[in-house]
Amino acid sequence: MYNSKIIGLGKYVPENVVTNHDLSKVMDTNDAWITERTGIKERRWVKEGDGNTTTTMGVKAAKIAIERAGIDKDDIDFIVFATLSPDYYFPGPGVEVQHALDIKTVGALDVRNQCSGFVYALSVADQFIKTGMYKNILVIGSELQSKALDKTTRGRGISVIFGDGAGAAILTREEDNSKGILSTHLHAQGKFADALILKEPAMGTRWVNEIIADNNPDEAGYFPYMDGQFVFKNAVVRFSEVINEGLEKNNLQKEDINLLIPHQANLRIAQFIQRKFNLSDNQVFNNIQKYGNTTAASIIIALTEAWEEGEIKENDTVVLAAFGSGFTWGSVIIKW
Ligand code: UT7
Repeated sequence: MYNSKIIGLGKYVPENVVTNHDLSKVMDTNDAWITERTGIKERRWVKEGDGNTTTTMGVKAAKIAIERAGIDKDDIDFIVFATLSPDYYFPGPGVEVQHALDIKTVGALDVRNQCSGFVYALSVADQFIKTGMYKNILVIGSELQSKALDKTTRGRGISVIFGDGAGAAILTREEDNSKGILSTHLHAQGKFADALILKEPAMGTRWVNEIIADNNPDEAGYFPYMDGQFVFKNAVVRFSEVINEGLEKNNLQKEDINLLIPHQANLRIAQFIQRKFNLSDNQVFNNIQKYGNTTAASIIIALTEAWEEGEIKENDTVVLAAFGSGFTWGSVIIKW
């Protein structure tokens, strides 16, 4: 059995910055509420005509990750793409990436696990590498959520939180079993699917504006629904559980964590976890202030940024943890 390790990271976020103040012009909200309840100051939302789709953003991030990994696109054996906002309802963005990057006819898998999507995607890629089936895997998390949000006061409890963006990682085979991804831990509880859900449309984000306009924009079912407080309460419990599960599996203590990168759902959730695990500010990486919650892209954007800023060094123990719609949750323990 091999391990897998990350050898290239990339991210892309749309240029268009939307501040809390900008949102207060279109709905009854304000910077103080959003900052206090979520920590978010601004997010990136695609702009009409900027050419950004879930796939194109993923491709931009992937190109950077491939270049930094120092491999050729033809060395990629498999593609895993995590998103809840695919361009088309089907086929998913994995095949679009393969086409856009002109990669040979390797398999392309789409992962649909919302905020836990990137953790699930990494776990899938890790299993393929562990068994020796594939050597190099491109893993992408990308979301274009802004088009499908209810930007009226009715939707303020959810729309102010979400942002657009993408990140990508190249995983490769590691012969040393004490290095790379040490373990992954995945969970789901469909009993609470209704707590964070988009019920009505079967559509891709390329067409969402037209579909909402052609139907009844007053129908709340066309927009995501979230029982925020219920999700919050479950999130803090599950984050803690799944981080502990990963530490125990590897005989690690919380003091051994060099960097925790939680899914960027809410700064208050991250701060709660930080206190619970008694971690210092430089042991937890947050960038929700700049990007909001980018769902399947949030962990990989944060991981990339942490690496770019020199926050991750060789031999560091890096912990990724996610929780979201499904409910789904999971963690990844990495020896860098
Ligand atoms: O990534 C997937 C997982 N997602 C999460 O983990 C999110 C978990 N939940 C949360 O982060 C929080 O529940 C929210 C940030 C979504 C909401 O914060 P909250 O402290 O739970 O607020 P609330 O929903 O209980 O709303 C409190 C008040 C309400 O007004 P009343 O009924 O007290 O008069 C809301 O109508 O705040 C009002 N409100 C707002 N006011 C200004 C809701 N959204 C807004 C807003 N601006 N954007």
